[in-house]
Amino acid sequence: MDIKIVKPTIEDVRGTIEVQYKTWLATYPNKKAGITIDDIEYRYKDAFSPERLKKREEMIVSQEPNEKYIVAKDGDRVVGMCYAVIHEDKNQLEAIYILPEYHGRGIGTKLWNAVLPFFDKTKDIYVEVADYNEKAIGFYKKLGFIDTGRRFSDERFKMKSGAMLPEMEMKISVTQ
Ligand SMILES: CC(C)(COP(=O)(O)OP(=O)(O)OC[C@H]1O[C@@H](n2cnc3c(N)ncnc32)[C@H](O)[C@@H]1OP(=O)(O)O)[C@@H](O)C(=O)NCCC(=O)NCCS
Repeated sequence: MDIKIVKPTIEDVRGTIEVQYKTWLATYPNKKAGITIDDIEYRYKDAFSPERLKKREEMIVSQEPNEKYIVAKDGDRVVGMCYAVIHEDKNQLEAIYILPEYHGRGIGTKLWNAVLPFFDKTKDIYVEVADYNEKAIGFYKKLGFIDTGRRFSDERFKMKSGAMLPEMEMKISVTQ
């Protein structure tokens, strides 16, 4: 398997949304949190509409200097994506998603290594993760992230059913 980490092109727009959709379906339904498959399906019901595809295309093509969007590709297929932003006060790892059938093969680590040089070395890197997402928490711990103790829910992740994604914050210091 020869996985390449590259900047996405217009041809990758649909693939990036597909990775997100499939990953969300495989990761976020959770009995305790009250999040159902239907909740996730609903969030993605218009994900491939022309408007949303256009929006994603703009996001990918016109990246601002404080944004980094990269993908992992197996041949022509997008199998992973990573999006990071440098804010005034902190670096934020906004998203890192690998297609479920590609988990545990080092692709997440490859994306992390590729995005790391982009971050502002004078600030810590933060990530927000569902508190029941043991796989991601294990992944971030392995990279050196620690739990900041902050727990919260964001209106952006309020589901159709009314359930809220319970989130925790983790951070890593790369300051020089
Ligand atoms: C979390 C995720 C990005 C990790 O990517 P990956 O390519 O599967 O991870 P890697 O193969 O690079 O694994 C690196 C390390 O993560 C940890 N890890 C991986 N899978 C794990 C699991 N199921 N449980 C605990 N730790 C795990 C291990 O320490 C692993 O190191 P090892 O292989 O030496 O044991 C990926 O599984 C994923 O996309 N998950 C669903 C989406 C998601 O939760 N994204 C994060 C949202 S905040």
